[in-house]
Amino acid sequence: MDYRSAFLSPSDLESFTAHLQRSQRIVAVPGAGLSASSGLPTFRGAGGLWRNYNATSLATPGAFRSDPGLVWMFYSYRRHMSLNAKPNPAHYALAELARRKPEFLTLSQNVDGLSPRAGHPADQVKLLHGSLFDVKCEDESCGYIRRDDFDDPIVPALAIPADESSMAEQSKARPDQALQAAMARKAALIKGLDISDASIPIPTIPRSSLPHCPKCKTSLLRPGVVWFGEMLPEAVLSDIDAYFDEVDPKPQAEAGNKGHMQPKKVDLCLVIGTSSQVYPAAGYASQARSMGARVAVINTDPSDARDLQEGDWFFKGDAADIVPEILKSVIGEPKASEVGKAG
Ligand code: APR
Ligand code: ZN
Repeated sequence: MDYRSAFLSPSDLESFTAHLQRSQRIVAVPGAGLSASSGLPTFRGAGGLWRNYNATSLATPGAFRSDPGLVWMFYSYRRHMSLNAKPNPAHYALAELARRKPEFLTLSQNVDGLSPRAGHPADQVKLLHGSLFDVKCEDESCGYIRRDDFDDPIVPALAIPADESSMAEQSKARPDQALQAAMARKAALIKGLDISDASIPIPTIPRSSLPHCPKCKTSLLRPGVVWFGEMLPEAVLSDIDAYFDEVDPKPQAEAGNKGHMQPKKVDLCLVIGTSSQVYPAAGYASQARSMGARVAVINTDPSDARDLQEGDWFFKGDAADIVPEILKSVIGEPKASEVGKAG
C-alpha cells in the first residue's frame, strides 16, 4: 500500500474518485494551508504571529497609514520568503487538473505566486486577494499599478538583514575553497534572518526610503494585495460571477425551456487548507453547493472543516500529500521534478 493511503479511508477515496471522474465543472478554494508545506506560514493558528503582531492586524489600510515602514517590512519578508519557496505537489496537481478539465476554476486566497509558478493556467486561477508581486499607488485616484515586480528587495531599505553568523561560519569551514565560500555567503544572504522573530532587530525605515509612486511622485507604493475592509479586485469578481452565471443553452433548448436559462450545474468543490473565515472566499463552497456541487474539504485540522453535510468528503492531512493522491485517477502520477517538499 502506498504510505499516503494511510491518511485516507479507502471507501471515501473510492466514492470521491468516482465522482471526480464524472465531474467537469470543478471549483477549488485554496487558502494558506496549500502553501504550508512549501514553508510559508499560515495566518491563523501556529505561525500566525509576525514579530509580536497578529499577521492579520498588519494587513489593513490603517496599519499602512500609521506605520508604512513596518507594514512594508512585513510584506518585503513575505515577498522574500515566497520567492525562495517552491511550489509543492498540491500546486502542481491543481495545475494539472486545470489542464485536464477546462471547466475547472481555482479561486485562490493566496498571494504567494506559487500556483502561477507551478504552471497553473492563468485563466483558470483567480487571485481573490491579489498578489505580493503587484505593487500599486496608495492613492487610488492616481491609479498606478505595476504587475510581476519580483525585485527582492523592492528598494534597498527593505532588504531582509543577512544572516552574518552563518556567513562567517560557512566560509570558515572551507577557507581554501573560494567558490564554496562565495556560494555559502550568497546562500546566507538569500536566506536572510528570520525577522518574523521579534528578538531579531529590524531597522526603522524612514518614509523617504520606501518605494514611491513613479506616476504621481508623491504617494507611496503599497503591496497589491487586498487588505481587511477592502473590496476584491473588480475584474476578478466579475470573472467569478461570469463563471457561476454561465448557462448551457443546449439541454435547456432541448427541454423547450428557452425563456428560463438556468446556470450550469457545478459538480465538485475542493476546499483546501483554508480556515474559511474570510468572505467572500468562505462563501464560494456554499454557492457551489447550491448549484449542485458535492464538497471535499482537505485540511490538517478537522475543526476547520465547516458546515460539512451528508455526501461531503473530509480528507485530513497535509494538502501536499492529499491533493495529488485524491486527484491521481485524473491527473496521473506526479513528475519526479514536482515531488520535493520544502526541507
Ligand atoms: N495542509 C492542509 N491544511 C493546512 C496545512 C497543510 N499542510 N497547514 C495548515 N492548514 C490549514 C489550517 O488548519 C487552517 O485551516 O490551513 C488553514 C489556514 O487558515 P488561515 O491561516 O486562516 O489562512 P486562510 O484561510 O488562507 O486565510 C484567509 O485571511 O488574512 C487573510 O488575506 C489573508 O488570504 C488570507 C485570508
Ligand atoms: Zn501615484
